[in-house]
Order: sequence, then structure tokens, then C-alpha cells
Amino acid sequence: MPSLSDHFEFESIHEVPESHAWPSLDDHPSGDATGHDTIPLISLSNPDNNTTKLLLRHACQHWGVFHVTGHNIPPSLLSNLELQTRRLFSLPTNQKLKAARPPDGVSGYGLARISSFFSKLMWYEGFTISGPVLPHALQLWPSDHYLFCEVIEEYKKEMRKLAEKIMQLILSCIGIKEEEVKWRRELTGVLQLNSYPACPDPGKAMGLAAHTDSSLLTILHQSSTSGLQVLRREDRHGPARWVTVPPLAGALVVHVGDLSHIISNARFHSVVHRAVVNRFRHRYSMAYICGPPADVKVKPFVGSPVFRPVTWGEYLCLKGKLFNQALNSIRVVQDD
Ligand code: SIN
Ligand code: FE2
Repeated sequence: MPSLSDHFEFESIHEVPESHAWPSLDDHPSGDATGHDTIPLISLSNPDNNTTKLLLRHACQHWGVFHVTGHNIPPSLLSNLELQTRRLFSLPTNQKLKAARPPDGVSGYGLARISSFFSKLMWYEGFTISGPVLPHALQLWPSDHYLFCEVIEEYKKEMRKLAEKIMQLILSCIGIKEEEVKWRRELTGVLQLNSYPACPDPGKAMGLAAHTDSSLLTILHQSSTSGLQVLRREDRHGPARWVTVPPLAGALVVHVGDLSHIISNARFHSVVHRAVVNRFRHRYSMAYICGPPADVKVKPFVGSPVFRPVTWGEYLCLKGKLFNQALNSIRVVQDD
């Protein structure tokens, strides 16, 4: 299993080493979204409008990913978050390792969380923040952590409000009445900062390998360098292709996660996505990964349930063991 000692200073490497050379990134053709088939864009300015709900339902059923505008997150907060993220990852590796994520822990600096499922390493470093950021920030900057903490805590607060708003809309799109979901205003979240250094041979290296998120939903801010791709199938059995989700100024990306697939009884689609790397530009992304409170068992709210109820913690455990078979392992009715 890869470990933190496999870390190296990406900037000083001029050739992709064997440890990071993936046999093939071309399991499916990839490219930009074309014509009418572009990533759905949803404005939250009029959340009660029927058109908004129709667009959202279509996006959740057929894409599992969409852009949101009208989210009310101040542009200055987004740029400050990006600035602090760059500041963190530009620290020397030995300093970042002082805040290393412990093997059985959630928070801190480290490899991609899905690394153990792959024999090759990713062109990636990440920093996970679950709970208060102060203890981790103190490890990074013993005396200069104030601004980092302020920006991160403010961003988490804003993200939680936005996640609740989007979740509310998603629930109403499935036809679930607000009162049925007691925990809808108690969502919890983890902030995941991602760094993909420039890479001398992007055709050989993987930024972040294909996965679905174990969340209800994930709200992602990407820096201006593209790299996020979603696996797109026009119909269930049709051919798949990797479609780039371009950074759109002012818009945030939302991924439908596995827990929303469960609560929608498989009507909504948790999107398979990955990140590719760039030859010249260092890319950053900042993901707010949102789920229900720890003690809540999520279950299908509509139709005859095809999944058994699980807590977020139980599901994360299954995902950690079974990776992309986790959803299947809680199915009570087999897919046709
Ligand atoms: C993620 O999958 O969490 C991040 C994807 C990205 O960096 O765009
Ligand atoms: Fe993800």
C-alpha cells in the first residue's frame, strides 16, 4: 500500500517515475462537452421556480453533475480560499508532513484517499479538514495561521448553508416532503483541498483516479486550470466518454454523491469523475463534501427500497473496503 514516505517534491521531477506511470488513461475517449450536450448550468437565484426544479431533476438523473450560479458565495471568499490553498501547498514537503493525516485519521495532509485501490500513485497531494481547522493550521504555521483559519472557517460556514439549500431542492425534486427528512438542516461536511502540480508528461500520470463521491453532494470550486472530467453515457448501455467540466468563472460544480443515489432509490445518479493533470500549470480544487449527521441512517425515500439503510460512517467504511462495489453491497434488490 502506498504511504506518505512515497511523497516527493513534484516540482523537481522532470520525468514521470515508474511509481506514478499509469499504463493507460484512455479507457474511454475524452474531450469537451459538445453542442446541446453540455454540463447543466443551474441558477439558484429563483430556487422556487418550477424551471429550476425541472433542470435540477434532469441534471441529477442524467448527469450527476451540474454547475450552479446565483449561489451567493462572495467572489472574494472564493479567491481568498484559493490563495490560502496555494499557500498551504507551496510549503516545503517536510513542513506539510508535520500535519500528515494519521493512518486511521480523517484530517491532515496526505495522498489521495483512494490510493490504496491502485498500484500506481497519483500526481496529487491533498489536505482534509474535518472539524475545527486550528489544530492542523498550528502544525503548518505555528505563528502565522490566523488568516488561513479565518478563511477556512468562513468558507465551511457558507458551504454548509449552500449545501442545505441545494439538498432541499434535490429532495423536493424527488418528491420528498421537507418534514420527512428531519436531518435536512443538520448537514455535516468535510473540506478537501486538492493540489495537482504541473506534470512533465500528463499522458502518463493520473491526477485523481475515477471514483464516485461517498457524500450526499460535493460542492467543488476549481482554479482556472481545467482537469475535472466526468464519465458520460448518453443512455444506460451506450458507449461512455470522459467529458471535461470546464472551470466557469463565478460558478461552482456540484457532484451528486452515492448517498443521494441511495435516498433517491437509484433515480439520481452519482457521477463517476476523475482529474487529469496539466503540463504547465499547477491546478487546485477545493471540495466541500457534505453528508447527514453521524447518527442518521439514510434510506430510500421513494418507491420500493432497493438499498438497506446506512449511516454515512458505515457507508464510508464499506467504500474503504469495497470501493466501487460499496453501493452493490447494500442493495437489497438486484439491478436488472
Ligand atoms: C474530487 O474528486 O474530489 C476532486 C476533483 C477535482 O479536483 O476536480
Ligand atoms: Fe470526488
